[in-house]
Amino acid sequence: MSKDKTDCKIKIIENGPYIVTGNIPLQEKIIVKKGKGYEYKDGQELPQAEEYHLCRCGKSKNPPFCDGTHSTINFKGTETASRDKYEDRADIFEGPGIDLLDDGRCAFARFCHSDKGNTWKLVENSDRPEYREKAIQTACDCPTGRLTAIDKETGEAIEPFYEPCIDIIQDPEEGVSAGIFVKGNIPIEAADGELYEIRNRVALCRCGKSYDKPFCDATHVLIGFLDEL
Ligand code: FES
Repeated sequence: MSKDKTDCKIKIIENGPYIVTGNIPLQEKIIVKKGKGYEYKDGQELPQAEEYHLCRCGKSKNPPFCDGTHSTINFKGTETASRDKYEDRADIFEGPGIDLLDDGRCAFARFCHSDKGNTWKLVENSDRPEYREKAIQTACDCPTGRLTAIDKETGEAIEPFYEPCIDIIQDPEEGVSAGIFVKGNIPIEAADGELYEIRNRVALCRCGKSYDKPFCDATHVLIGFLDEL
């Protein structure tokens, strides 16, 4: 993390927004199909600031920012996600060329899909170099951090490098607005003051309906969440 970003943070307000501090770049990204996989296209430009407040209730008239609506709709933003460490929550899938950790936190971003099969299939076939490479790439592309490729020799997690940044996601293929993808080891503080495990990739809920708050669990797809961006 570069020096000017060491004080960046996301603070969750009880039944309210995410307060983001530390000049973290904010952008809109659109999930688009590419072959049998997916990629991001840039969306519209969003205003940048040292501090900004991102809507967590899903009802702001000025998305992705909080406009105070949460306090008029009796939003219940109770955080229900496990605070156990990723490695303790994740299952391990062993392949011949690469292993995979999977904690089941799915935001339905679909970056685990590829033209050679999904990440688990790729891991199964990872004795073939091109499958091993694709397994690593699709695991690294998972924005929730659900999937992590583990080098069999070193036991080390293989992670892409990200500067701290926040992406507001749109998913036109599903006809919905998706979650908030948080990259680059940004600390996230719960409403009660406890820090979540710091991770390189996590997806936060912004439709207000996740059963695993503050994290996205793909409920936005089920409820057809659409922001007004
Ligand atoms: S959290 Fe404030 S308007 Fe949604």
